Amino acid sequence: MRNFENKFIVAVFAANLIAIVFFGGRYYLTGSVESSKDQPKLLVEVETEEAVAVKTVKAPVEDLSNYVASADRGKKVAGKCKACHDFNAGGKHKTGPALWGIFGSPIASQAGYSYSSAFEAKQGEIIWNDDEIDAFLHKPKKYIKGTKMAFPGIRKAKDRLDLIAWMKEQR
Ligand code: HEC
Repeated sequence: MRNFENKFIVAVFAANLIAIVFFGGRYYLTGSVESSKDQPKLLVEVETEEAVAVKTVKAPVEDLSNYVASADRGKKVAGKCKACHDFNAGGKHKTGPALWGIFGSPIASQAGYSYSSAFEAKQGEIIWNDDEIDAFLHKPKKYIKGTKMAFPGIRKAKDRLDLIAWMKEQR
């Protein structure tokens, strides 16, 4: 039995050595050694620094610090909202609250509109400034869990910036 074990260990070492010599250890190596029928397969993995580095590379974040938002373009984006929102002065509530003058006002503060309890719970916490509107319109349901605004959000950051530029003028 000892003799058999020794042979097995030598076989494992030899397989590793051969694999590393042949492939230079550059990629994942999988060597399998089967010493007898009832012996389980032995898998050997060698992970190099190169392989780890490839895994952690992230897509670059778009730098929009120099982007000049356009209210004209934003007006077109607002077309997505008009089924539910009136942006005009003196506009009425629809499915969503009237949004004339919404920029800079506190959340859930449009008189006569019946907000969801999720929105009411945020009263006093959010003022609709650039950052808050941007985050809300990106992913409404994620930003305010339980909101009844049935809108998936605006994926493109530039579209959101253009829209906000236009919303600022509706006051
Ligand atoms: C399908 C209807 C619907 C669409 C489309 C929609 N909204 Fe809304 N919106 C709502 C509802 C309903 C609420 C109230 C949310 C609540 O009470 O949970 C709301 C709330 C808001 C609020 C907060 C208002 C406040 O008084 O605090 C803003 C800002 C807003 N929407 C902007 C937009 C913009 C901009 C768009 C277009 C990109 C848009 N919404 C598209 C239905 C909609």
